[in-house]
Amino acid sequence: MNISERLLAIANLIHPGSNVIDVGADHGLLEKYLIESGKVESIFAVENKKGPFEILKNNLKDYDVNISLSDGLDEMPPETNVIVLAGMGGNLILDILKKDVNKLNGIEQIVVDAHRDAELVRREIIKLGYRIEKEKIVVENKIYYFIISFVKGKSAYKDVELEWGYNVSNDPLFREFKMKELRRLVNTLAHQKQAKKSKPECIERIQSKIERLENL
Ligand SMILES: C[S@@+](CC[C@H](N)C(=O)[O-])C[C@H]1O[C@@H](n2cnc3c(N)ncnc32)[C@H](O)[C@@H]1O
Repeated sequence: MNISERLLAIANLIHPGSNVIDVGADHGLLEKYLIESGKVESIFAVENKKGPFEILKNNLKDYDVNISLSDGLDEMPPETNVIVLAGMGGNLILDILKKDVNKLNGIEQIVVDAHRDAELVRREIIKLGYRIEKEKIVVENKIYYFIISFVKGKSAYKDVELEWGYNVSNDPLFREFKMKELRRLVNTLAHQKQAKKSKPECIERIQSKIERLENL
């Protein structure tokens, strides 16, 4: 089965033989791929909205996947040891995890594809007792996605690794991302400088962000 580079990167990071919960499963393509490839022991697909849930139910009717119309980790089966949270903003991902932080005891791996606020996600999931195992960049339709696998444990990080990605700076895709992001930040800085009510602390913040990225 063919799936997008992004979903494939998520699937590849999931530990083989796991019992997975996929929160926000939507189209169910990740579920189809994981079942067809035989990579996981089980997968529990969750949607909290009726419309996407009906699509999910229909798309997975021929697959051995338990699906649930519920919120976040509310109905998580006890055997679950991997959580997937993909295609959502960082704040939503963190809200879902923090609402049920008491359910994370048996969770060995959290695979995240945050479409915004990846830095915040890295910083906050680490505080929940996880370390970054691996990070993979994929690009689709000119958008760069940072897919992150967290596992239980502790590690020390440089600030730039949490800000821009862990162990990714030698990846050719990171070089591309860096050029694009630098152009964006330089434009933002120029606009800030021209703005009537420009704030010095804001200009300083963007300038130092540019410097840190240039030095990577
Ligand atoms: C943009 S889709 C991403 C689909 C898929 N995970 C992917 O990466 O392609 C995000 C989905 O998350 C669902 N969602 C958002 N908050 C949720 C929550 N608290 N519990 C379950 N599903 C949620 C939305 O209804 C939506 O279908």
